[in-house]
Amino acid sequence: MNQYILQTEDVAIHYGGVKALDGVDLTLEKGQIRGLIGPNGAGKSTVIDAITGRRKLTRGRVVLAGEDVSHLGAVERRMRGLSRSFQRTSIFGGMPVRKQVELASYKMGVADSADDAEAVLQELDLIRLGNTLAEDLGYGEQRRLDLALALVGRPKVLMLDEPMAGLSVKESQDLAQHLKALTSRWEVSVLLVEHDMDVVFGISDAVTVFELGRVIASGDPAAVRANPRVREAYLGSAA
Ligand SMILES: Nc1ncnc2c1ncn2[C@@H]1O[C@H](COP(=O)(O)OP(=O)(O)OP(=O)(O)O)[C@@H](O)[C@H]1O
Ligand SMILES: [Mg+2]
Repeated sequence: MNQYILQTEDVAIHYGGVKALDGVDLTLEKGQIRGLIGPNGAGKSTVIDAITGRRKLTRGRVVLAGEDVSHLGAVERRMRGLSRSFQRTSIFGGMPVRKQVELASYKMGVADSADDAEAVLQELDLIRLGNTLAEDLGYGEQRRLDLALALVGRPKVLMLDEPMAGLSVKESQDLAQHLKALTSRWEVSVLLVEHDMDVVFGISDAVTVFELGRVIASGDPAAVRANPRVREAYLGSAA
């Protein structure tokens, strides 16, 4: 029995001569938050694209709850529980928050989409904004709506690409708390790409460091932070 909810095995994505990813092995346990860090162009976003099925693999496979999903399209993977947030692109400005979340749930084929939406809104403290039009939300609230749309249908894995970008310190902490709560209450597992090191090291159970499409360090946050190669490649300037 495989204890991982998600695994990538020897995943590679090459664009002509550019090895955006080259031999990436990642694991994610149930309810775990794994932070993905690395310099610009290291391949962090490409890993998420590879897992969600947005980019075709050059090599390797993606395994969700023991099932090889490498041959499936992005929509099928979402149906099986691999979800990502898209930072606003999926929001309709003129529609109230609750309606949007219900619609997203309905489109997922959830049997009781009203209940599903309500639970998501509750979890993200969006109930009081249920009747507010998305275009009238503050930036931080819009980000929470993004997250809500990614959470309909109770995904197994949530992938977030720089969700804290543009948020105030207070809003970032708030979002981090919600993520942490989700992992314990809903047993959602999270892959978090984030440049804010305080956030990453503050909430991750494990951290993986990328450089030039490869994993250069992975494991316990404290050990990763202390790793000389990581400090040199990435944290050097900040440390
Ligand atoms: N469609 C594409 N065609 C060619 N090369 C690409 C394509 N998409 C990404 N790349 C290259 O793949 C590499 C990894 O890019 P990626 O966007 O995954 O990095 P990243 O770690 O997310 O960086 P950032 O922190 O800036 O978001 C880079 O060298 C990038 O130029
Ligand atoms: Mg990126």
